[in-house]
Amino acid sequence: MQDNSTTTRIAQAAGGGMLPQEQLHALYEISQVLNSITDIDRLLERVMDIAIQTVDAERGFLVLREDNEEGKLSVRTARNIAPESALSISDISHSIVQQVIDDQRGVLTIDAQTDPRFAGSESVIFKQIRAVMSVPFILRGKLLGVIYLDSKTRRGGFTDDSLGFLKAFSNLGAIAIENARLMESLRDENYMLRTEVQRTYHFREIIGNSQRMLQVFEMLGKIINSDIAVLLEGESGTGKELVARALHYSGPRRDRPFIAQFCGNLSETLLESELFGHKRGAFTGAISDKKGLLEVANGGTFFLDEVADVPISIQSKLLRVLQDGEFRRVGDTETRKVDVKIVSATNKSLTREVEKGTFREDLYYRLNVIMIHMPPLRDRTGDIPLLVQYFLNKHAAKTSERLKKITPDAMKILEQYHWPGNVRELENAIERAIVLAEDRDISPNELIIPRVAKPMGTAKTLKEYERELVLKTLEEMKGNKTHTADALGVSLRWLHYKLAEWKIVEK
Ligand SMILES: Nc1ncnc2c1ncn2[C@@H]1O[C@H](COP(=O)(O)OP(=O)(O)OP(=O)(O)O)[C@@H](O)[C@H]1O
Ligand SMILES: [Mg+2]
Repeated sequence: MQDNSTTTRIAQAAGGGMLPQEQLHALYEISQVLNSITDIDRLLERVMDIAIQTVDAERGFLVLREDNEEGKLSVRTARNIAPESALSISDISHSIVQQVIDDQRGVLTIDAQTDPRFAGSESVIFKQIRAVMSVPFILRGKLLGVIYLDSKTRRGGFTDDSLGFLKAFSNLGAIAIENARLMESLRDENYMLRTEVQRTYHFREIIGNSQRMLQVFEMLGKIINSDIAVLLEGESGTGKELVARALHYSGPRRDRPFIAQFCGNLSETLLESELFGHKRGAFTGAISDKKGLLEVANGGTFFLDEVADVPISIQSKLLRVLQDGEFRRVGDTETRKVDVKIVSATNKSLTREVEKGTFREDLYYRLNVIMIHMPPLRDRTGDIPLLVQYFLNKHAAKTSERLKKITPDAMKILEQYHWPGNVRELENAIERAIVLAEDRDISPNELIIPRVAKPMGTAKTLKEYERELVLKTLEEMKGNKTHTADALGVSLRWLHYKLAEWKIVEK
């Protein structure tokens, strides 16, 4: 029993060598680290250093289990041991770490040379080791990793106290490791999402090569770095929101929020509370204080969609935001400040709304520092082939289906249609055609759009357009009025009535 008595003597001698205060301090320090370091590699370095220092170890390393099904172990950080030899089979550390993993309990050997568990280990390194200590990092029953520490003959050994400390230490360490891993995966995910968003809403994704679109791009290029308010006017589906997002995600505010608020047909109370927030009890249903979306967008861009529909009472409050960046939550007396870039959109003519008296002129000027008019698709039919190709590519990329082609006949039809729903309508038509075409290319059969030639020239009135459309169809139907009415989806009576109005003589 000579072995045991030696062990006990050494343990007693070393026991006095370490102050509880030091250990407490180490625990305090690790809890600080837990709160402050979210980078896993830096965290592991700190954990290692604090452990080595506190128990006065000479060498050490830390093994982590990969956070996946395989759960492979690897040495993540080491002190005075080459990481590659830390876990080598010939080394004593391997059997210790294996034991800790198997038992999920700490191991303490205060005299390795006489410990029967290591009898037979002949390596030179082993000959110098005196005390060994190793504990697992366990969180909610899951083994995250193992820390291994040892100490050479000439230094003091470890004690039961050291082991107790190291266990407490590893409990905190496990939380910190899990925390850092979580942060790391959130960071990765966030980065991926951001990149995805920035890619999706980049100027590159606004397709167009026509003169009208080149003018739009030129203007966007000029204002991208500025904070001035931008008003986007254009028919439905011309890409107003697309441009608003690109302005944000390609501009200097890209790392701050982009918030869009649709202002059409919302009740006044709802819109006001959405924009500015409210104080608890401000109205029925306001059960707690709520931040307004303008506050959420602070530092970023606020997109006022369908701005022409903002009720007049809210217009004055928006004016104050544009003038001074100030507003109040509904029912609150406190004035708050925000810094947002305002981009607004409308498919009505705001000047007309001002004339009608439904839109404040002063607000109009504030919103309209720069106005970009999004051209309707029928005024830039040259962009149709580009857009069609873009939507075909986009679909193929999204679904990893074969890239479909479109026949020249079909393309011609698309180029001739007048697209009242603009790019959105074109995109839908292509999506639909892709599905209908199954594994074939897209031919006229798959295009479900009113199959008539678009009126030539621009700036026609609806009446002129109507007349032209009816006459073209009549011609296509070789004068057959029943067929013409069918093709146009109108009644025969209506057709007769119109022909009479235009004084088209019956043949
Ligand atoms: N130039 C373009 N290049 C590529 N896609 C476009 C283009 N213009 C519009 N789109 C696409 O068309 C659809 C409609 O665009 P968006 O929502 O920006 O239109 P909008 O002007 O805001 O319409 P609405 O007035 O109806 O809200 C979107 O899917 C958008 O990506
Ligand atoms: Mg829109």
